[in-house]
Amino acid sequence: MSAVVRPDADGLRRAVEILRGGSVVAFPTETVYGLGADAFSATAIAEVYRLKHRPSWNPLIVHVGSVEAARELAEVWPEHADELAARFWPGPLTLVVQRSRRLNEVGRTAAGTIAVRVPGHPVALELLAASGLPLAAPSANRSESISPTTAQHVIQSLPEVPLVLDGGPSGWGIESTVLDLTRTPPRLLRPGALPLRALREVTGPIALPDEDVTDGANRSSPGMSRRHYAPRAKLILTEKIEPDRLAAPVGVLAYEGADGPYREILSADPREYAADLYAALHRLDDARVATILVQEPPRTEDWLAVRDRLTRAAAG
Ligand code: TXA
Ligand code: MG
Repeated sequence: MSAVVRPDADGLRRAVEILRGGSVVAFPTETVYGLGADAFSATAIAEVYRLKHRPSWNPLIVHVGSVEAARELAEVWPEHADELAARFWPGPLTLVVQRSRRLNEVGRTAAGTIAVRVPGHPVALELLAASGLPLAAPSANRSESISPTTAQHVIQSLPEVPLVLDGGPSGWGIESTVLDLTRTPPRLLRPGALPLRALREVTGPIALPDEDVTDGANRSSPGMSRRHYAPRAKLILTEKIEPDRLAAPVGVLAYEGADGPYREILSADPREYAADLYAALHRLDDARVATILVQEPPRTEDWLAVRDRLTRAAAG
């Protein structure tokens, strides 16, 4: 059974004790809640994979408290990394770099890289400082299901997590943007909270993710499987909301007026929409709808991350 605690001095002390003991703790970040483990403890990392039912080929992001700590995980600190870090860390940007030869197995990929970020949530930063550990942390949900943006979502999805630090709802509500800096030009591996436009101001042109949608370790971003971020209900993306002919009860997720008892109307602004998206999907699942009709968002770059998550959630 999980204990949900406030992130005060006592809560942090308990979290650090668990982390140092080689187990796991869920904690808030500015994007989504993470399931944290000492990046240097093989036992703790194994526990993350077990609890999430995460396939072993999908590597973890390592969270650190400073740029210096991030550099220590890298063999080469690439061009652009310092300026990106100065502009966007702490914040929702994950950088993929060549991994240090001194590193253990954590986050290992076939390409010999490591994904790192400095999270922009005060509780996450306090936990990193208090534990003195780099924390490997995937989103704190069962593999393939919706990421958690509240402590409640975490215990619904992972009831076995020993401790959840409750920092309230995550501000961004969608995962970090993952950028591969081992290539020229840099390549987007996962669209996320930080818009591409902001990154381009620093790096110039950015290559978009491959269209390859098969699973497995050899993909450039192993975790971007075709089906992911999925609610229990069947999700259908549609231009026109017509609930009549579908398996009832039908939920509707839209950014304009729509009818029906199970209805979530989100903002027409992509950042605000993203902030509410997972919570809305969780609510529709809790209402036990069989189908969720989602009004298709515009095909513009501002909606890239939202469209990416909705497309994967709809993949059957
Ligand atoms: O916002 C976030 O990034 C959240 C919070 C908790 O920080 N974390 C998160 O972790 O979304 P996760 O494990 O759910 O997603 C990490 C993604 C996966 O798609 C994984 O395959 C990819 O990052 N990844 C990790 N290491 C990689 C590497 N070395 N090269 C390419 N992709 C990598
Ligand atoms: Mg995830």
